[in-house]
Amino acid sequence: MIELATLLSALRERFAAAVEAAADERALDEVRVAYLGRNGEVTTIRRSIGKLPPERRPGAGKEINDAVAVMEALLQERHAQLEARDVEASLEQRIDVTFLGTPPQFGSLHPVRRVIEDACGYFERHGFAVVLGPEVEPDYYNFDALNIPPEHPAREGFDSFWVNDSLLLRPHTSPMQIRTMQLHPPPVAIVAPGRCYRRDAVDARHLFQFHQIEGLLVASGVHFGHLKGMLTGLCRTLFGAYQQVRFRPSFFPFTEPSAEVDTTCPKCGGRASACSMCGGSGWIELGGAGMVHPNVLREVGYDPEVVSGWAFGFGAERLALVRYDVDDVRRFVDGDPDFFEQLA
Ligand code: DAH
Repeated sequence: MIELATLLSALRERFAAAVEAAADERALDEVRVAYLGRNGEVTTIRRSIGKLPPERRPGAGKEINDAVAVMEALLQERHAQLEARDVEASLEQRIDVTFLGTPPQFGSLHPVRRVIEDACGYFERHGFAVVLGPEVEPDYYNFDALNIPPEHPAREGFDSFWVNDSLLLRPHTSPMQIRTMQLHPPPVAIVAPGRCYRRDAVDARHLFQFHQIEGLLVASGVHFGHLKGMLTGLCRTLFGAYQQVRFRPSFFPFTEPSAEVDTTCPKCGGRASACSMCGGSGWIELGGAGMVHPNVLREVGYDPEVVSGWAFGFGAERLALVRYDVDDVRRFVDGDPDFFEQLA
């Protein structure tokens, strides 16, 4: 009888060659079954142990078990190799993990939107409510109730887009003063941001669609000093602690007294040189303000003997010009991604 050791070592060699040659998992499994399966070669050898003298049987069993352990280790090793090769191949086909990625492009809030949110946030922290209203208004809210009767020359100044004889695209957010006061008894404290429209030729300072932020505070004992304090606080919140604010006497039919409100030019810092942004004045106009006219208070059923109030209307694009030191409002609407990225 051939020596068991010789038999096993020949078997192991053949097995190793077959394992090496197995090109995929299926072929590898066939090799496993042929050698180590229930009717495989190893089983045949095990059965032959019975023919050995009893004293040699335990040694022979151990030799076979050792051979099987080696064979199983080979199987395991080849299995791992094949698996790694498959992963490698599928990676090569689908993704190259070493290829440079394309960074995702992040958007950001529009600068005008940001300035509106920050201005509203300032007023909300002072107890004001934010209210929104229609962009198409009857002339009553837009003019009559604001102390601008039909035929009043101030109507002309608003260069409105009329929808029909009595409806227009609102040229300012002031109608929200009337809508708010007619809904709520005093005291009221609101800001009303929103889109406005005017038949203006587009240039560095004008768009035919733009945004305003209206503010209104009515209660007993409200005076002009409160208005100055709140608007100075707004500018310092938006533009920085050293920002200056100036109130120039002006006229609006719905306020008395009225003022136009200017703030330090961001370009020349108010040094009033030959500045391209402020024309050398050192100031940028933000909008109008004043004490609510008694006729307006009476119109909404408030008693001007009991309550007083202030109001303002600022251009949001103006606020954004100052905040981001941009000297042309058209930059905000021409959709140039590089421009917005700089401001993000
Ligand atoms: N509505 C005015 C405009 O667009 C601005 C304005 C001035 C609003 C005075 C006010 C105000 O609330 O009190 O020209």
